[in-house]
Amino acid sequence: MQLRDWWRIALLELPTGVILGAILGIVGVVRIAVWQILLVRRGREVFAVGAQCTHYQGPLAEGLVVGDTVRCPWHHACFDLRTGEALRAPALSPIACWDVEQRDGMISVRSKRKRPKPKPRDNATVEPGKIVIIGGGATGFAAAQMLRRNGYQNSIVMLSSDDALPYDRPNLSKDYLAGTIPFDYVPLRDEGFYADNSIDTRMGQPAEQVDIRAREVIVAGGDKIPYDWLLLATGAEPVRLTIPGADQPHVRTLRSLADCQAIIERAKAARRVVVIGASFIGLEVAAALRTRNLEVHVVAPDKRPMERILGPDIGNFVRALHEEHGVVFHLEDKGAAIDENAVRLEKGGTIEADLVVVGIGVRPRLELAEKARATVA
Ligand SMILES: Cc1cc2nc3c(=O)[nH]c(=O)nc-3n(C[C@H](O)[C@H](O)[C@H](O)COP(=O)(O)OP(=O)(O)OC[C@H]3O[C@@H](n4cnc5c(N)ncnc54)[C@H](O)[C@@H]3O)c2cc1C
Ligand code: FES
Repeated sequence: MQLRDWWRIALLELPTGVILGAILGIVGVVRIAVWQILLVRRGREVFAVGAQCTHYQGPLAEGLVVGDTVRCPWHHACFDLRTGEALRAPALSPIACWDVEQRDGMISVRSKRKRPKPKPRDNATVEPGKIVIIGGGATGFAAAQMLRRNGYQNSIVMLSSDDALPYDRPNLSKDYLAGTIPFDYVPLRDEGFYADNSIDTRMGQPAEQVDIRAREVIVAGGDKIPYDWLLLATGAEPVRLTIPGADQPHVRTLRSLADCQAIIERAKAARRVVVIGASFIGLEVAAALRTRNLEVHVVAPDKRPMERILGPDIGNFVRALHEEHGVVFHLEDKGAAIDENAVRLEKGGTIEADLVVVGIGVRPRLELAEKARATVA
């Protein structure tokens, strides 16, 4: 599409599907803003919405239109074309919407719509008085945020064993670990968000037990938090290595922000790292630590990295890509023991290492749920 006629386009020029227009708008007297607007035609209807995904600015023009929604091509967030609402993770914020007028076979993009405030629900009296969310990860955060967005007005308490407010966990093995973005990118929202939305966050406060009969969560120290509804969103934890030496301080797993910051601290003084595991987290850690100029060796029992999930061809491709960036693979082998300065391999080799990162999978944290069921029985 030519940009000349951005504000008035003949409807016939607009095929069903997605096209992108750049719009220069003047805001107030002196401020100038540039918006990229996605125009989507569905039959006779045309929608004008923000062209960038609110997760990591993925190009929605390259996404998919499914019914009245558009899906981001990068991580598949989904937005409502009528309201801009973010309908599916990982996007948390809506995209903007513009009014569209159709007259005499032409369409005009008009003013940007104001976002309506969530309406308080009529049936507030039948809603639970207090919802307790156990877990401050993406699930716990999305649940709290969605409750408020949908007009739930009563009490929300979020308990987390993490000390930090909810953050973008996937970033911990990518740009943040590589040191290519500042910390500001990591939290999902700042403190003000929780205050503005009356979400009572109790970080560093693990739930130890749930008493389903009494409808209470018992936290470390013995305090009891009553609830009407409870959401268990305790996520997963890394599988630990059990070989000799795996409990030393220079052997780390990566799940929390604190884990990531500990790896970053150690990486500052380290020269060589051994990554145990050649799947997503192991390889992302390898790439991120190469960006920090560490010598990186990856040890894994597989024939090719990621082969089990993605097959041999992609496994070969992934291996070659990492090797191009200086990663050294020790495949079809396993760590047998970890010394202070080296990892000894089952097949007899030894790799010097002043930092070891273990990425050998996760298992769901079921303990609370299992204990709660035991109480009921
Ligand atoms: C380094 C890394 C990179 C990743 N990269 C990607 C990626 O690129 N793409 C992707 O799709 N997925 C990725 N993932 C997976 C993704 O992060 C998870 O799917 C997601 O975090 C799950 O969210 P969750 O809220 O269900 O659980 P979690 O994020 O695990 O959160 C669980 C929360 O519960 C808290 N908790 C646990 N037990 C208790 C308790 N007893 N009391 C109170 N609180 C408790 C924890 O402290 C935590 O805050 C990655 C994961 C990691 C670790
Ligand atoms: S950038 Fe769109 S879902 Fe991540």
